[in-house]
Formats: sequence, structure tokens, C-alpha cells
Amino acid sequence: MTDSDSNSPFTRAIGLGRMSKDHFGAVNTPVYRASTILFDDVNSLMTGKAPYTYGRRGTPTSRSFEEAICALEGAAKTAIVPSGLNAITTAILSVCSAGDHLLMVDSCYEPTRHFCERVLKRLGVETSYYAPTDDIAPLLKPNTKAVFCESPGSLSFEVQDIPAIAAAAHKVGASVLMDNTWATPLFFQPLKHGVDLSIQAATKYIGGHADVMLGYVAANQAHAARLADTHGTLGLYASGDDCFLGLRGLRTLPTRLARHQATGIALATWLATRPEVARVLHPALPADPGHALWKRDFSGACGLFGVELKPVADTAVAAMLEGLSHFGMGWSWGGFESLAIPAHIHRTVRPFAANGPVLRIHAGLEDPDDLIADLQKGFARLGGAL
Ligand SMILES: Cc1ncc(COP(=O)(O)O)c(C=O)c1O
Repeated sequence: MTDSDSNSPFTRAIGLGRMSKDHFGAVNTPVYRASTILFDDVNSLMTGKAPYTYGRRGTPTSRSFEEAICALEGAAKTAIVPSGLNAITTAILSVCSAGDHLLMVDSCYEPTRHFCERVLKRLGVETSYYAPTDDIAPLLKPNTKAVFCESPGSLSFEVQDIPAIAAAAHKVGASVLMDNTWATPLFFQPLKHGVDLSIQAATKYIGGHADVMLGYVAANQAHAARLADTHGTLGLYASGDDCFLGLRGLRTLPTRLARHQATGIALATWLATRPEVARVLHPALPADPGHALWKRDFSGACGLFGVELKPVADTAVAAMLEGLSHFGMGWSWGGFESLAIPAHIHRTVRPFAANGPVLRIHAGLEDPDDLIADLQKGFARLGGAL
């Protein structure tokens, strides 16, 4: 397959990382399950100068996935890891050492905060937090080694000014890390906007079928060696089966994302008209405070967004959610199925401003009219339980 940076990411996701010539024409690189790799002679065994040397160090399946992601992200190195959270922790560990300071966005995925408060603290790395839309310049310290972003935040959906954050961080020599799971590399390419390490929970949209745990970190040239060293030294690895599922998911990602986006916007637009709703948190809606930044930097939106309801009892929210037919309740997103859960937004810089409960909705691949009808009945239950 030929790949060119000038093609749309939608086209590139189809052709990248296929290695068909090496696999009897099979369209996708097949699953390689391997620990031991055998060598023909002592010299190649001892020097390790072979394309594949040991299962943990890569197989054709993992390399195909790496190759595809490197091209999509415009990265010099991609490290494939067993989960999105592991991608976050590996990226941080590849830049921070004892005595360093990490500036973390207050809207981060909650387990990211736990890692900082538990493991990083124990290792002598100090973490402080910044509000997602604040200017970070006054918060940078002489020992700030990294600034971590997540945009939009996956519960509260504030859009961050990534180029401005990157410029401020780089001025003091700090690296910029970004959890880009919401947009995927199809709708936002972090490295092209000044980010040094782009993080993805491939568990979500890349896997796309709610049946694989997978993550990756994609690094620019300056961060490639440290990432490779940290990844290898920690013994990180994702199985051939999971890399295969990641690669297979990539092929339909453009089509799925287009549908998630359209349905998400349809649901959000409808929800904004409902009397029970105080506001919708969706950057693709023109009324959203992050809309201008989103429009400037992103080429699309996924199916994940928030809704703040007018104040109502928790029991009424439970009556609404528990009776939904097409929306499941679960701690993930990015699969083909719709989800709706209460979102508990924990902040330490300043409280998240909401008077009523916030719901997080994942628009799946079902017919949007059926989803709207389901939510409509849900609002009837919410009203009935007041
Ligand atoms: C924004 C975000 N980043 C990272 C993760 C972690 O991914 P994983 O569950 O694969 O560890 C999640 C999971 O929900 C997430 O929502």
C-alpha cells in the first residue's frame, strides 16, 4: 500500500500497517502469538540483529499496529501498551524523575489523578493542577518537567488551547503530554499542535467494539528514545490478539466515527431543547464555550458528551437511566453501543459549576430516532419520579 501524508486520515486509516506482501496477501496482518523467536546462527542470536528477537519486543502484528499509528500521528515512535491508563502512566514516567514537577489538568481522567497522588508522589514527583482553560504560564515552576492535557475533558468537555499550552510549556523546557482519546488521531493530531507525547486509550474508539483493552503513546523525535527505553525497561507489551483487534478497528474507525459524530450532535441538539436540561456540554454545538477553539483545531467530534440537568433528586435520575432500552450503564465508551451514566466531576482547583446532576452520554451506532425516543421516555420517568 502507498501512504501519503497529503491523503485524508480517513483514507490513511484503511491502508496503513498492512504488511500484506509478507503474509501471502492477507489483507490485515494476522495474529502472531510468540514468546520465543528462533535464530539461525549464534551471531544473529548474540547481536540481536534480526527484525524480531523476542515476543515482548514486537511481532509483525504489533509492528503493523505501531507503523499505522506512527503514520497517523506523525510520530517518530509509538509504544503499544496494555491499556489507556498504562499509556498515561508510561508517558509520564518517560519524562518525570524524582524532584520534578508535573502540571496536570484538573479535568483529567480520575485514575490519572490517582497515579499522580499515589505512585508519582511516592517516587518524589510533585503534581499540581490547573483548570483546563486557565493560562498555565504563572503555574510553571523552575522544575516543571511536564504539562499534561486532556481535551476535551472526558466528563466535563472543556476544550483546551493546546498550541498556547505547548508554547508556554516549551518556553521553560517542559514536555507536553496529551490524552487525545476523545478525538482520536482522526479528528486531532496532537503532535502537529505542539504536543510531545500523544496518548490514546485504544480501548475506546480504535478497538470500537467494547471487547479489548489497549493503549499507545506516540512520541515526536525528541521524546522517542526515552519513550522506547521506558516502555522496554518496564516490560510493557500488548498481546498479538489485542494488537490485531486494534488494527482491525482502525479500518472501520473513519466510518464509525462519522456516525458517532452525527448521532452525538443529533442527540445533543435535541437534548438542548428539553425543559429538563440546564445545558449541554458538547464542543461541536455553537453555544458551547469551547466551540471556537474546537472549530479552530479539531476536524470532528466523537459521540461522547455531557448534559447538565436542572436540579433533580438522584432517585429521579436513577429512574430515568435504569429504564433506558438502548443505553447501557458502564464505565467506558467508544464502542458501538450507546451508554448513559451519571458523571461525578471531581475538581481541586475550583469546583465544577453545575447546579443539577450531569449525565455523560455516549452516542452509539443505533438509529438516532430510536435513541431520542428512548431518552424521551426516560424524561417521562424522570418527571414521574420527582
Ligand atoms: C479519557 C480517558 N483516558 C484514558 C482512559 C483509560 O483507558 P483504559 O480503560 O484503556 O485504561 C479512559 C477510560 O475510561 C478515558 O476515559
